[in-house]
Amino acid sequence: MTSIGRNVAVIGAGTMGNGIAHVFALHGHPVTLIDSDPAALRKGMDAIARNLERQVSKNAITADDRDVALKRINAQEDLESAHAADLVVEAIVEDEEVKADVFRTLDAIVQPQGILSSNTSSISITRLGAVTSRPDQTIGMHFMNPVPVMKLVEVIRGYATSDDTHRTVVEMATALGKTPVTVRDYPGFVSNRVLMPMINEAIFCVMEGVAEPEAIDTVMKLGMAHPMGPLALSDLIGLDTLLAIGEVLREAFPGDPRYESPALLRDLVGAGKLGKKSGGGFYDG
Ligand code: CAA
Ligand code: NAD
Repeated sequence: MTSIGRNVAVIGAGTMGNGIAHVFALHGHPVTLIDSDPAALRKGMDAIARNLERQVSKNAITADDRDVALKRINAQEDLESAHAADLVVEAIVEDEEVKADVFRTLDAIVQPQGILSSNTSSISITRLGAVTSRPDQTIGMHFMNPVPVMKLVEVIRGYATSDDTHRTVVEMATALGKTPVTVRDYPGFVSNRVLMPMINEAIFCVMEGVAEPEAIDTVMKLGMAHPMGPLALSDLIGLDTLLAIGEVLREAFPGDPRYESPALLRDLVGAGKLGKKSGGGFYDG
């Protein structure tokens, strides 16, 4: 795989950040992977090594591709290390205030021509761009989970995103073997505006005793040919992240029952049952 010589910084080494770093590194980009939590950074690097190994064992890549990709990733704890990035992909917690703080800091650190992108699931790209001096170079680059497998990158143009920024990000996503689809900057964009009501409804089915989680997921897998049921998918996404997305949508569409987060989801998050990342959610482990 050849390098197109663009430095990438990924902020956040969690569920999404490690997958995003993995894919950019495998496609020749020098990647700085930054997480303020050293334990999360280590866990993220371990996940990358494991998932690259999985691709080697499936003959999707060679052992040499794996080793070269791992060497291209520089793990760091400090945002300052993003200074030389041509493209930043922010993948931290789904909280607008926290993201805005990081965007303000990145704006002061990253070289002037650097593009600032967010992997947010639902938050306004326009508002994130507005806290920087480069709203024209701010864009949404919404990868899907698991990043090494899913083909889509939902590209979100904010109010001020320039044609140049948009073209560059579409080209970079395409060079990763992904299919970029551009959508407008609306809460939840297309992906989560459509996905969240289905997931909420599946959780309401559990709450109302319509069926057990396994039965609900089996209905959706065998009946609708979904690769996994909505409750297993919730565990994969992370229940804290789902609830955070739900809160953005609830505020954006006040009083709309499609975007009401089920009490059971709030309970599970309150109990620390966050899905796969915490060792259990709707399912164990
Ligand atoms: N890294 C690298 N490869 C991976 C991987 C990872 N993290 N996870 C799975 N794979 C590979 C496997 O090695 C396997 O490869 P082969 O086809 O070569 O055998 C392939 O992906 C399928 O994996 P498995 O055989 O382990 O299991 P599976 O067939 O059940 O597929 C799945 C797993 C890809 C997760 C599939 O169940 C699936 O597509 N689920 C739906 C995922 C989905 O909907 N994602 C979107 C979530 S919403 C979102 O991301 C947006 C948001 O803002 C919340
Ligand atoms: P996660 O909780 O798994 O990981 C977030 C990581 O960010 C953690 O490791 C945390 O230590 C780190 N972090 C938090 N604040 C930080 C800061 N100020 N500086 C540096 N690192 C910081 O979250 P995730 O599921 O990977 O989600 C990340 C983003 O991607 C969110 O915006 C989410 O909505 C979006 N997203 C998630 C999914 C999914 O399926 N989980 C899919 C698409 C998009």
